[in-house]
Amino acid sequence: MRVLVTGGAGFIGRCLVGRLLSDGHQVVVVDDYSNSAPENLDAHRGHAGLEAIVEADLRAPGVVARLFERPYDVIYHLAASIRVQDSIDDPRTTFVNDVSVTFELLEAARHQYLRANNVSTTGTFHLDVERPHLVDRRPRFVFTSTCMVYDRATQGAAIDEAHPTRPASPYGASKIAAENLVLSYGAAYEMSVVVARPFNTYGPFQKSNLEGGVVGIFLANALAGRPIEIKGTGTQTRDLLFVEDSADFLARLGASTIEGEIINASTGEDVSINELAARVLEVTGARVPVVHVPHDHPQAEIQKLVGASERARTVLAWSPKTTLSEGLATTRDWLASRGGARA
Ligand SMILES: NC(=O)c1ccc[n+]([C@@H]2O[C@H](COP(=O)([O-])OP(=O)(O)OC[C@H]3O[C@@H](n4cnc5c(N)ncnc54)[C@H](O)[C@@H]3O)[C@@H](O)[C@H]2O)c1
Repeated sequence: MRVLVTGGAGFIGRCLVGRLLSDGHQVVVVDDYSNSAPENLDAHRGHAGLEAIVEADLRAPGVVARLFERPYDVIYHLAASIRVQDSIDDPRTTFVNDVSVTFELLEAARHQYLRANNVSTTGTFHLDVERPHLVDRRPRFVFTSTCMVYDRATQGAAIDEAHPTRPASPYGASKIAAENLVLSYGAAYEMSVVVARPFNTYGPFQKSNLEGGVVGIFLANALAGRPIEIKGTGTQTRDLLFVEDSADFLARLGASTIEGEIINASTGEDVSINELAARVLEVTGARVPVVHVPHDHPQAEIQKLVGASERARTVLAWSPKTTLSEGLATTRDWLASRGGARA
């Protein structure tokens, strides 16, 4: 299949690209490197299946149209502004990047679909009349949302897809808005769309400076002999998913025929941030202090996040393969091989 991966140089994107290449797909990557680097794709360069790496900002005029000059079978949309704090400081950037760009990609996919079926791309769309003709080349659109859309888990119950959403930041709100747009293209145009809600993902290639994920930041500090700083009480919990499991989930989702659904990917076990700090000390052998500091955005903190992934197990035969101990050790080794930090 010919596939597009937006944000394909990013932390999860590069891992997904590797997986899609080894599955034999023809892959086009687009990334502006605003939160990544060209080197992230070095391991994939020269692979016969890697058709193109396009360096472009998806918000720039004409970029999406040029990307869609030839049709795709699957579009994996991962490019986004991903930081909760950035979305609080500058909600417009997150909104445009996470919602408007998703809309433009959906439109491009819809027009690709209509063109492939020789249906006019302007005018009123009457599903009943036109549908019999729209049989070929239904593009599949896999949207990468996030667990940050959910309201907190209560009384220990894991969060399944029916759990209430409660956007605690413009990032969460933008993802919910984009999810709804994606699902609406399934309902209104019978496009093959699906929404992924991975829980907090960690592993090699995630940033470990202050813009990174908590696992990378803690490991980098421990390896560098710096204190581990816990924001707030540290009683907040996260369900930590190793990046290869996250990419495996997305690859399976793209290859499946499930459509019009939202599907979680999680381990089903949460760990408090205090406990994570202890595990990081253990895996690095570091003897650095663990200190508590005021939270940057306590209003946007989700106190308990633990996901239920029964749906993914049932329909995708997916389950996470990497334990937290294995994932922490792999990430530690990767960071250590790069001098301990990843900007
Ligand atoms: N990391 C996590 O814990 C996690 C969990 C759940 C969902 N997600 C979602 O998965 C996706 C990937 O996350 P990630 O952690 O790999 O983030 P990332 O920032 O490493 O990857 C996103 C990539 O998109 C690129 N990008 C951003 N805006 C762009 C634009 N306008 N044009 C072109 N490229 C652009 C960035 O340069 C980056 O390479 C995101 O949509 C994120 O919301 C991440």
